[in-house]
Amino acid sequence: MNPEIHFQPIEDLTLTTAQQEIKDLSDKLLKWGREYYEEDNPSVEDYVYDANYARLVALEKAFPSLVMPDSPTQRVAAGNSVQADSKGLKKVVHPVPMLSLGDVFSVEELYEWDKVTTKNAGAQQAYNLELKIDGLAISLRYENGRLIQASTRGDGTIGEDVTANVRTIKEIPQHLNEDLTIEVRGEIYMKKDVFAQLNAKRDEAGKPVFANPRNAAAGSLRQLDPKITAERHLSSFIYYTAQNDVLGTGTQSGVLDRFRQLGFPVNPDNRVISNMDQVKAYIDEYTEKRAFLPYGIDGVVVKVNDLAMENELGNTVKIPRWSIAYKFPPEEALTVVRDITWTVGRTGVVTPTAVMDPVLLAGTTVKRASLHNPDYLQEKDVRIGDTVTLHKAGDIIPEVGQVILDKRPEGDDQPYPIPQYCPSCGSKLVHVEGEVALRCINPECPAQIKEGLVHFASRNAMNIDGLGPRVVTQLIDKKFVKKISDLYALRADQLLQLDKFAELSADNLLNAIENSKNNSVERLITALGIRGVGAKAARVLAAHFKNLRNLQNASAEQIADIDGIGQVMADAIVQFFDSEKVGQLINELENFGLNFDYISSSSSDTSGYFYNKRIVLTGKLNHWTRPQMQNWLEDHGANVSSSVSSKTDLLIAGTDAGSKLKKARQLGVRVINEQEFIDLSDAEK
Ligand code: IVH
Repeated sequence: MNPEIHFQPIEDLTLTTAQQEIKDLSDKLLKWGREYYEEDNPSVEDYVYDANYARLVALEKAFPSLVMPDSPTQRVAAGNSVQADSKGLKKVVHPVPMLSLGDVFSVEELYEWDKVTTKNAGAQQAYNLELKIDGLAISLRYENGRLIQASTRGDGTIGEDVTANVRTIKEIPQHLNEDLTIEVRGEIYMKKDVFAQLNAKRDEAGKPVFANPRNAAAGSLRQLDPKITAERHLSSFIYYTAQNDVLGTGTQSGVLDRFRQLGFPVNPDNRVISNMDQVKAYIDEYTEKRAFLPYGIDGVVVKVNDLAMENELGNTVKIPRWSIAYKFPPEEALTVVRDITWTVGRTGVVTPTAVMDPVLLAGTTVKRASLHNPDYLQEKDVRIGDTVTLHKAGDIIPEVGQVILDKRPEGDDQPYPIPQYCPSCGSKLVHVEGEVALRCINPECPAQIKEGLVHFASRNAMNIDGLGPRVVTQLIDKKFVKKISDLYALRADQLLQLDKFAELSADNLLNAIENSKNNSVERLITALGIRGVGAKAARVLAAHFKNLRNLQNASAEQIADIDGIGQVMADAIVQFFDSEKVGQLINELENFGLNFDYISSSSSDTSGYFYNKRIVLTGKLNHWTRPQMQNWLEDHGANVSSSVSSKTDLLIAGTDAGSKLKKARQLGVRVINEQEFIDLSDAEK
């Protein structure tokens, strides 16, 4: 199906043609390796890399005289030069190299591997089967139970120091349940739903999307600013240590149990089996279940369960002999593109979508796939009538892989033309500098207004029940609503003219609209749809400024001064309120009686320790960032303020706390440290 993975039979090659192919393969693999490891931006999918790598191994085996010392097969990890700090992160040397696993692509090859292993071991081994988590490898060093360093694999010998970033990942314990000194390894990954939300947000903001959750996880972890990592909600599973002796168990399954006791996140789906039929059954089971897991897996890892035997079998230079990875075949389908449609989002971003003949793919019927932006479309060179491969990024988001050029209809020699005018309002589209997106910048564009209204009413914003896209479309079509404030002037007789609207539903909607006037102002700030300002940032802004007018009048400097709000967002807010139209809208909303005050947290969980407490944060935090802690507290109903007074219920003091701590002590305010906060917050999970 993929032209790149059809190779000439090896027996047809001469020494010269083999030499040329080895050189081409090495160049390609090195380039792809760099893209994968250093740039988090691979231009080919994993299986293309894997198949080419396997081909190189096969060629080198058939022509041993052609093996070059700098071949990708001769390195610890293929294709990665030691420029581990290309992003400015510190380098870390792994005293025990982080090996990767040998892999097989069929159950037959797995039986072969078992034969060799059984022979080497002298008897059939019990295996611990694990899911192969599709993320990036991490090494965590603990000293006396405290996390002291986290690093990526890099080229296997030298990785990058990502300690500060890893400290923002809640699942990774800062303290173990026992005071052990140990280095453990595992996978950092991004859950499928987190990935889907992140990409949707990036699309809307005109930023390039991540190809899959693994790249998103890598890009999120390899950040100089840990705040960005914190916002990306990464997850982790730990599965390996080279220091089994520290744990006092004789089996890999026992290692995983010990990891669980120590407080590590461990994947629950491992299984100890005693014969290959059970391996096959496990593979079949998870081939089925794969699409329904909340995280991506790309195969199954088979490990000799007996650690003494693991030790005896040992490693080759590159890979262990005691373990192998079975890789799932890529889930791909072929289909034909029938149309490319363009839709206008709330912020004016115009997005192309491929409309295709419906095909069944990883459990669902797919007929549409986003082509994200003109650059992406042009790079893939998708044209109407093309046959394309289709897969699911992160097992959920349908994505066009590549065009099968052999099947392109004859005479089709022009790339798909990128539209120049907005499909909704007809105004000229623009390419904003520094963005991949194409935008309609007409503020009166009906498509943008519709999306803006849907957003205004949505659950995280004004939460107006019953005002979804279907109703909004009709309100606009019937010209009952031309702008946001018109919502508050709607009448029952107008609603009764809408499709499927009876008296009761008209009353319900009018009530919901009326009730939304009383929302605490963070909902309104979210609802206004300021670029980059989501529900979380809105809450931080509302808690700080207390009233919408204060935010409206604030300078970019004052806004950027707030913990958790960056300069880009501050500039976007000021620019937003600078607009005359926005000024008018705010006045109209005030005249309709909308509440502009910050009332309190919108948390509904009233049972927790932090609910309704006035809390102040001070000092240096080690395990949380300030905005992270503030958000968490506000999510749990606390009011976080900046100065200590007699009304303060609790001071959370990090290290080097100064005057606030002194004042709290003078006033008799309860003070807890970061660890006590962690214990209390864990109890509320
Ligand atoms: S064991 C020395 N177990 O797959 C062997 N690896 O292709 C240590 N991976 O580098 C690895 N899930 O990043 C192991 N359950 C699992 C895994 C797993 C994912 C990754 C890991 C490794 C790569 C090998």
